[in-house]
Amino acid sequence: MRAPGGRSQRLSLSARLSGRVRLEAHGNGAIVAIIDGYAVELGAFSQAAWGAVRELATGLPLASLAPEGGSTAKEVDVLVRRLAGLGLLEYRAGYSLKSGEDLLVIEPQVAGYWPQTAELNGADWIILSRFAYMHRRETAMVLESPCASALFQIHDPKAASFVAMLSAPQQIGKLRKQEGFPGMEFLGLLVDCKMAFKTQEGARSGLRWAEGDNDLVLWDFHDLLFHTRSTEGRHANAVGGTYPHGGMIPQPPAERPSWPGEKIDLCPLLKSGPEAGLPIVKLLRERVSIRAFDDRRPVTLAGLSQFLDGSARAVMRKLGGKGDKDFPPGLFPPYATGGASYELELYLAVGVCEGLPRGFYHYDCRAHALVPIEVPAQELKAMLERASSTMGTQAAPQILITIAARFGRVAWKYSALAYSLILKDVGILTQNLYLMATAMDLGGCAIGLVNIDNFEKLTGIGFHTEGPVGQFALGRCAPLKETS
Ligand SMILES: Cc1cc2nc3c(=O)[nH]c(=O)nc-3n(C[C@H](O)[C@H](O)[C@H](O)COP(=O)(O)O)c2cc1C
Repeated sequence: MRAPGGRSQRLSLSARLSGRVRLEAHGNGAIVAIIDGYAVELGAFSQAAWGAVRELATGLPLASLAPEGGSTAKEVDVLVRRLAGLGLLEYRAGYSLKSGEDLLVIEPQVAGYWPQTAELNGADWIILSRFAYMHRRETAMVLESPCASALFQIHDPKAASFVAMLSAPQQIGKLRKQEGFPGMEFLGLLVDCKMAFKTQEGARSGLRWAEGDNDLVLWDFHDLLFHTRSTEGRHANAVGGTYPHGGMIPQPPAERPSWPGEKIDLCPLLKSGPEAGLPIVKLLRERVSIRAFDDRRPVTLAGLSQFLDGSARAVMRKLGGKGDKDFPPGLFPPYATGGASYELELYLAVGVCEGLPRGFYHYDCRAHALVPIEVPAQELKAMLERASSTMGTQAAPQILITIAARFGRVAWKYSALAYSLILKDVGILTQNLYLMATAMDLGGCAIGLVNIDNFEKLTGIGFHTEGPVGQFALGRCAPLKETS
């Protein structure tokens, strides 16, 4: 935004509580955040700090934070950063922060986001990320990207048109001279957030290769968006069984209405067929999801070895169909994958297993061995607890298997359908895990919701390189409750 006379104004940022959060001060000085009815303790603070943080209802200027200031200023800084760490703040940005005059509102998508502006100067060229997109959300225009740790509600149409101009490389010095230029800080926020990136002068080709590492190059736009928006950790939308349309649209019926043609009854044929009584049929019919486990009788290491050997161990075999040239015999896991990519890896969070220390392990399916990975005990506990809450149970699974994908294995070959193939592969491996658990009289349950940010923090592997796409809780079944 250029003020009259052509002088650029500075963008001011202020933090405010996101819509679903309010703060309460308790008699003992404790400040508590109430999030959708849940209370989170933030610590004890002075009356003066409480007075100052009440500004978070409308907007507390970030420039007023003074970590090196007096005791109240320090407390306010601690509290604001604690709220940011929990992802409970959003940030207003404008040239005057009176209500209704925001240029944009930044909504963090990853806990811990803090607005920063990348260093830019007039000679730099920048371009929009190929993953960034603008769309209407209710009555706001939002700029989002699966690579970004925040989204931008853009309130000023002129700023939105500058974003659109970044579809081609732009030199900042030239952009700056244009009417309605939204300011260097605006561009700095976009670059810091990976909505835009610095590029070479006038670069027109090879832009896909200029952004990020090779693992990012391999992703199609829709696949990365699907991955990040259908998991937890990199967006702030509601996720899971929230019944968003309950009460408005009836659920489609469990049973599909029959087609009108005359039915050919297959049942009488079963009695005489050679397949009658096959063990696989018995196994398939006995398979069931088990969510309660008996920790007094944990799975043993020998049992786990047998479970992994049967369900996921790579063994010498010849892949069918395509002939030896395409798929020479080799070590392959015992399930099908699109294009024989074998991109899936198993990671085990072991809560309790007789003969195996509690910890986090990678399963090396070729060596049939577990490789320990050092992770903080708190994180392991949280991971197991999250799994039990997703299953709606009290006790954590004895072993939580995370199915992770090395995305590039599939995306290197397939255009458009790489991620959908991966999810189909997960379904096939999951059925192996279910059937092996059933055959061994163990209990298991698939878990659909995974947190990709936690996995990245736990393993240090970028979320776009290798990440969770499914989970399976495993344990020895709790005894059935006696029915009276
Ligand atoms: C892809 C997938 C995701 C699932 N996610 C969950 C989950 O997050 N929590 C849960 O308790 N059960 C989960 N389940 C288990 C289903 O609820 C279960 O399969 C279904 O209720 C049918 O019961 P059955 O498996 O005993 O036949 C999942 C199953 C599948 C196949």
